[in-house]
Amino acid sequence: MLKIAVLVSGGGTNLQAIIDAVEKGKIRDTQIVKVISNKADAYALQRAEKHGIPAQAVVRKDYPDKAAFHEALLAAVDAAGADLIVLAGFLVVLPPEMIRKYRRRIINIHPSLIPSFCGDGFYGLRVHEAVLARGVKVTGATVHFVDEGTDTGPIIVQKAVEVKEGDTPEVLQRRVMEEAEWILLPAVIDDIAAGKLKIGGEE
Ligand code: GRF
Repeated sequence: MLKIAVLVSGGGTNLQAIIDAVEKGKIRDTQIVKVISNKADAYALQRAEKHGIPAQAVVRKDYPDKAAFHEALLAAVDAAGADLIVLAGFLVVLPPEMIRKYRRRIINIHPSLIPSFCGDGFYGLRVHEAVLARGVKVTGATVHFVDEGTDTGPIIVQKAVEVKEGDTPEVLQRRVMEEAEWILLPAVIDDIAAGKLKIGGEE
């Protein structure tokens, strides 16, 4: 049984895609052991609770400094006892110690075809605003392993999505979610659960 902890910051539509896939058996032999958010009001936490998944908020303002917050976040992740950490719309830079401790055991979904439209400042709608401003005809989503950089870890899988005439950032974001994100993330987790994609081990 693959145990996964999912880290979220917002609406949790990627989390919902994972929950649904586990419940429908599209992700085999996997248990979501915990959902952790840096926002106490993240709707993603409610999604977890509706499905009986332990959910916890670790909020920066509750701690005296960044180091204490990082320590609390790592402690919450460690307590989950997960094999795999999934960043699903998680907008906090992970502490370097966590990256080291969970080398090749943290994956992230990014709503563009990395290395385009990624890195510092490229998250959520901003990604799609930049895509439309540049006028590219194809965008998409990427699942990658997380390393010390921002969206710089080894790419696992990508899926292209057409940019259409008249797209707004919101319309494009929804298409990228529906046609790429919500398909790729469950598929990668299932591959890991099935042993098709190896995690961990390498330092
Ligand atoms: C989405 O744009 C997703 O691509 C990015 O975070 C945003 C919110 O995702 N990773 P979610 O609805 O909270 O899963």
